[in-house]
Amino acid sequence: MVKEIKNNKLYFDGCDVVELAEKYGSPIYVMSKTDIESRLSELNRDFVDKYGNARVAYASKAFCSVGMYKILDKFGASIDVVSGGEIYTAKKAGFPAERIEFNGNNKLESEIDEAVEYGVGRIILDGTHEVPLIEKACKKYNKKMNIMIRITPGVAASTHDYIVTGKKDSKFGIPLDDDVFLKVVGDVVNSEWLEYTGLHMHIGSQLFENDAFVEALNVVMDRVAQVKDEFGAITKEVNFGGGYGVTYTDEVRKPYSFFLDPMMEVLEKRSKEIGIERPCAVVEPGRSIVAEAGISVYKIGQIKEVRGIRTYMSVDGGMGDNIRVALYQAEYDGIIANRAEEEPKKKVTVCGKYCESGDILLNDFMVPEETTSGDILVMFSTGAYGYAMASNYNNNPIPGVVLVENGKSDWLIKPQTYEQIIENNQIPDFI
Ligand SMILES: Cc1ncc(COP(=O)(O)O)c(C=O)c1O
Repeated sequence: MVKEIKNNKLYFDGCDVVELAEKYGSPIYVMSKTDIESRLSELNRDFVDKYGNARVAYASKAFCSVGMYKILDKFGASIDVVSGGEIYTAKKAGFPAERIEFNGNNKLESEIDEAVEYGVGRIILDGTHEVPLIEKACKKYNKKMNIMIRITPGVAASTHDYIVTGKKDSKFGIPLDDDVFLKVVGDVVNSEWLEYTGLHMHIGSQLFENDAFVEALNVVMDRVAQVKDEFGAITKEVNFGGGYGVTYTDEVRKPYSFFLDPMMEVLEKRSKEIGIERPCAVVEPGRSIVAEAGISVYKIGQIKEVRGIRTYMSVDGGMGDNIRVALYQAEYDGIIANRAEEEPKKKVTVCGKYCESGDILLNDFMVPEETTSGDILVMFSTGAYGYAMASNYNNNPIPGVVLVENGKSDWLIKPQTYEQIIENNQIPDFI
């Protein structure tokens, strides 16, 4: 466990969190290298090595940085990117181009150009619109491109509406009406620049059951058969997407094998029935690799009691560094890091410093009676979609990310400065 409580204080991957706040300031995100690596090891052991002809493509959107890509590279992982910015970050990390897979429901022409120029391993097609754009870039650089086709399997996974993606009414993926799907496959199969590589699905995020995955994969395998029958094209890869749930409050995280073993069984069985070699199995986890590896560290400022209603406990960050609570009522757990062994007896609402009433981080959060301004509040499991979704609302700088491992610490991403916030500001001469 990277979380430990000793002498009334919280330790994270061997580091005293109160000392981290003194040394690096607050607010900060802290990420445990040990925790990230243990997830990558689990995936390598229970998926890549266990089954062979399988790979992990980390979904960069959960948390993207040059250092993160270096860690992933050491584990032989691939990465899923969804923007020119993520491709650029990967380039800066020297991440091998062939291990990059480019997703997204509206890839820009410029982004497709950047991806093809860098030589990414695969583009995951999310609509007919992209075909001529990819072909144009391929011609320009005289390179062929492997194409995975993302379909919408029409399976409604049980999670928050904003993070469900596999149901029929979705902006992601190719709808499975025969005329639509077969047209896209035909465009790819018949293109001199595109190489039909396989099919892709991603049904949603923060899922705890495996039945929707299995159901969706069966839909994908029906299409694998159809592609073979209609075009004689062989599916070499099937991407299962990500979405494996993590512990925020009282959810119980399940091992990767809980999701992946039954999917591998379907993949093996259906491939045999279709009469093809079992395609390479690809997973695209994001949240489950980094969420619990991250904590947010804040200093408590103003404490305001609204008599008979509630006590607001303000911290020095908020919705700018964690939009998930305001965006989709995400719930977190936390602790007062310098009172870690004191009994939480007092109920408070932890709010941020941003100018929105909805800037709440923790509702009905219990803290020790003596909790006061200057104390350090930690929110757990903020490593995914925290920094990644941070904003400069109110011109607050985006906090830095400190990487910790076994008592060592250093910046993984330095905090933004005021100067950086306004560096692109201009004063047009007609002002
Ligand atoms: C295409 C795709 N793959 C993978 C993921 C990662 O999902 P998660 O972070 O839940 O594992 C997402 C997230 O939305 C996605 O859209």
